[in-house]
Amino acid sequence: MYDNNPTLVGIKKEIDEAKQGQVFFDEKALAGSPFSEGKKPSNGKHFYIESYGCAMNFSDSEIVASILADVGFRPTRQLEEADLILVNTCSIREKAEETVRQRLNVFAKMKRKRPGTMVGVLGCMAERLKSKFLEEEKLVDMVIGPDAYRDLPNLVAGAEEGERGVNVLLSREETYADISPLRLDDNGVTAFISIMRGCNNMCSFCVVPFTRGRERSRDCFSIVSEAQDLYSRGYREVTLLGQNVDSYCWENPETQEVVNFANLLEMVAQVHPDLRVRFSTSHPKDITDEVLHTMARYENICKYIHLPVQSGNSVVLERMNRTYDREWYMQRVEAIYRIIPECAISSDIIAGFCGEQEHEHQDTLSMVEWANYSMSYMFFYSERPGTLAARKYPDDIPEEVKKRRLQEIVDKQSEVSLRHNKADIGKTFKVLIEGDSKKSNKQFKGRNSQNKMIVFSKVNGLKPGDYAWVKVTGATSATLMGEIAFP
Ligand code: 5AD
Ligand code: SF4
Repeated sequence: MYDNNPTLVGIKKEIDEAKQGQVFFDEKALAGSPFSEGKKPSNGKHFYIESYGCAMNFSDSEIVASILADVGFRPTRQLEEADLILVNTCSIREKAEETVRQRLNVFAKMKRKRPGTMVGVLGCMAERLKSKFLEEEKLVDMVIGPDAYRDLPNLVAGAEEGERGVNVLLSREETYADISPLRLDDNGVTAFISIMRGCNNMCSFCVVPFTRGRERSRDCFSIVSEAQDLYSRGYREVTLLGQNVDSYCWENPETQEVVNFANLLEMVAQVHPDLRVRFSTSHPKDITDEVLHTMARYENICKYIHLPVQSGNSVVLERMNRTYDREWYMQRVEAIYRIIPECAISSDIIAGFCGEQEHEHQDTLSMVEWANYSMSYMFFYSERPGTLAARKYPDDIPEEVKKRRLQEIVDKQSEVSLRHNKADIGKTFKVLIEGDSKKSNKQFKGRNSQNKMIVFSKVNGLKPGDYAWVKVTGATSATLMGEIAFP
């Protein structure tokens, strides 16, 4: 989900690793949707946008695209054609930032070839480095933080006059609720809906609270309208996005009624029984039984929870400031399997956090086994400037130890994923067809409720956006293979 970390294994949850940085857009989305009416006619200029990092960033790029389309810019996939080049950045690990710096070198070459081309840096790196970015990267014309995208047209106008600009103001209110995203990475079947922004947790390793600010929830009615609009345009799956969806909380200013995440899930599930609902990310300290019971009640709420553990050891969790311990986490996993027996759980894991002892690392390995994760996103610890951990704890685990531990976790997860997937052989699942499989246009790919990708041979009459019942005939640690049982 996050950056080009080669250690990601298993089925990709949200952003396929191969898609990082790529540019997609749906020209159809510029017309046809009630949400996209009123876009200005083209001003003859094009923007090109590359996104890195988490699903939230990809979703934000769709908001940026909509804001630019409103002032007449049109998207392009061709860097050479762009009048405005934007890069939506990620700061979560050092490597993500290095990737962006390399891309900026490529954009610098573009600019030399085509003077007048504007370059803007968006997202978490913009927020983290602020005006320092303009000093460090002479080619960059504008630096815009995640809460300042409405100001983009002004900054672009300034850049057209040769002014370099920065807007990194964080907001306590901005949710972009009224902006209809211009769907960029589009298969016409699945879409993200951002339901909240920011994060109030202070996990000691994490830069997100500094780059995305305080947590705020979006008006639930605008979320439901967006889901309805997507359904009416043929989409069949929405993923509700937030840094910590379980703390979603929106108070209706007219009735003072408070809508929590379980309520919101139910409202979106009721849009249509054929519209699947997913969500990410859940926090172990906040996920409630009410959410689990709501999931169990609605067939169209997918039976899959991304519940990052980070570490399986209570002492490390304490240093990470995760505010739960191993026992609490295990009790939450037990509740999930009790209330939703068919649910799949995935995780994020950090190897080699400050001061991590060998036996503490072993606790993480045993957690992977015990929780029976269908997959995990695994990383080694990367110290981020300004975080609690950077200020409080020395980054004292040697790189080769971090990497060895990470590899052990990856190996353990592969083993558990393979076992998990093999247990599905012989079962029949309802699969939402997303498109052609990567390897062959004679095969479809789609996911089951548990978020497992299943590849199967096409049969006449089925198309992306349809549901099909697929019997699993084979499995690797990353994918299931199957055949149509009945459409
Ligand atoms: N180093 C390594 N991994 C990190 N993550 C967040 N911050 C860091 C860091 N400094 C991981 C966590 C989180 C995911 C989004 O990225 O596992 O859940
Ligand atoms: Fe970062 Fe923790 Fe917030 Fe997730 S919950 S964004 S890891 S601070």
